[in-house]
Amino acid sequence: MSFMDWRSPSGKLLRIELGDITRIPVDAIVNAANSSLSGGGGVDGAIHRAGGPSLMQELRRFENCRTGSAVVTHAGKLPAKWVFHAVGPVYRDGKHGEPELLRSCYSICFELAELHKARTISFPAISTGVYGYPLNDAAKIAVVEAKRCLTQAIIVEEVYFVMFGETALRAFNDALES
Ligand code: APR
Repeated sequence: MSFMDWRSPSGKLLRIELGDITRIPVDAIVNAANSSLSGGGGVDGAIHRAGGPSLMQELRRFENCRTGSAVVTHAGKLPAKWVFHAVGPVYRDGKHGEPELLRSCYSICFELAELHKARTISFPAISTGVYGYPLNDAAKIAVVEAKRCLTQAIIVEEVYFVMFGETALRAFNDALES
C-alpha cells in the first residue's frame, strides 16, 4: 500500500505516504536540519537544492537553532509558503533525552504552523538518517505526537509524513496501526 490515512475525531487528516517531500504542495514543509543551520545532505540538501539560495540567505539571520526546536524561512521555489527547519537529536543510546527532543521537534512545528496559519504541513522522518535514530522508535514518537497535536490544532487540517523509502514507510505505517 502506498499510503495510509488516520483521521482525528473532527475529521482532520494524517497521511503517511511514499515520496520526495520537495515535490508535494503544502503550506509548510518541515526540514531535518542541523543546529548551525548550515545545510547538509539528505532531506536538508534536497530542500535547499529545490528551494534555491533564498533559504540559506534567510537562515543567515539566525545564529543557530537548539536541538528539539525549529526556525522558519520562506520556501523559495518549493511548492510551499514556509519551511520549518527543525533540528532533531543525534541518537546516542536513547538515554540522553533523545525521545523528548524528537517529540519537541514535532510539537514545535505544529506551534509554528498555527502561528503562520499553515493549514497543511509535511514532515520527513526527522533524525532517522544521518542522525541515526532507530526508525521504529522514531516513527512511534512522530505518529503519537502528530496525532496529539493535530487533534488539538485550530488551523492545521492536513499532515503528511513523506517517507523516502519502503522501510521508513513500513515503520510509520506500523506505528500508525498500533
Ligand atoms: N524527501 C523525504 N525524505 C527524505 C528525502 C526527501 N527528498 N531525502 C532524504 N529523506 C529521508 C531520509 O531517508 C531519512 O529517513 O529523511 C530522513 C531523515 O534523514 P536525514 O536527511 O539524514 O536527516 P537526519 O537524520 O535528521 O540528520 C540531519 O543530516 O543532512 C544533514 O544537515 C542535516 O546535519 C543534518 C543531519
